[in-house]
Amino acid sequence: MSTAKKQYKRITTKTLVDMKNRGEKISMLTAYDYTMAKIVDGAGIDVILVGDSASNVMAGHETTLPITLDQMIYHAASVIRAVERSLVVVDIPFGSYQSDPKEALRSAIRIMKESGGHAVKVEGGKEIKESVKRILNAGIPVMGHLGLTPQSIYKFGTYTVRAKEEAEAEALKQDALLLEKAGCFAIVLEKVPAKLAQEVAQSLTIPVIGIGAGNAIDGQVLVTHDMLGMTHEFNPRFLRRYLDMYKEMTTAFKSYSADVKSGDFPNDTEQY
Ligand code: KIV
Repeated sequence: MSTAKKQYKRITTKTLVDMKNRGEKISMLTAYDYTMAKIVDGAGIDVILVGDSASNVMAGHETTLPITLDQMIYHAASVIRAVERSLVVVDIPFGSYQSDPKEALRSAIRIMKESGGHAVKVEGGKEIKESVKRILNAGIPVMGHLGLTPQSIYKFGTYTVRAKEEAEAEALKQDALLLEKAGCFAIVLEKVPAKLAQEVAQSLTIPVIGIGAGNAIDGQVLVTHDMLGMTHEFNPRFLRRYLDMYKEMTTAFKSYSADVKSGDFPNDTEQY
């Protein structure tokens, strides 16, 4: 290993819990490929999520359901090759852990062995408790995901805010406690009222990382392509765009096309 690499301190699941205890917020973004992961890691983002949102962002599917375990492993392995510091968490895709705990463990093991990912993420609470325990018993760190869980979108029927009603909020709190007790190292809370997210974060010793879950929690996650403004049809209230890459890239592509067509590119210094 080069000395340049040694100066990086790797983020571990324990680092995240220490950060929560210190009151230091956790930054998390998605990446699905080597080049993006290199930039995200180099920028000092604490956690890289190889999300099954790759199904939407990379493959153009309407939901996260179609992406396969093999495809997730391909994305995760590409990310891992780029990363020096961030903790890399990999989504176990729909259909690879819900049916029985043995299958869940097999899927998690494949992700860890074949991609080199550092942890896995699963969606759901008490209904996947045995799967979570089985994965954890094999020494594989698990991140939970509650609230709006996109793998269940056909059950919800809509992407609106979850757990606004008392009964669903109570069930979510119970699920969060159950995941902590089972041994999860962190939980993602997606699109739930900020007050509920705050209560959950305060009641747990493990970090709660939110997307559309307010600011009174331990960290934030966004889909990188959304925060860069590469996607422009998706405009939820929680999304802050840090660039308008759609516009920037379109301008660049148009300039390139014009230069090629006019014969301006390549010029004398751009050839051999
Ligand atoms: O797949 C994903 O990108 C996610 C985030 C939205 C948390 O699960």
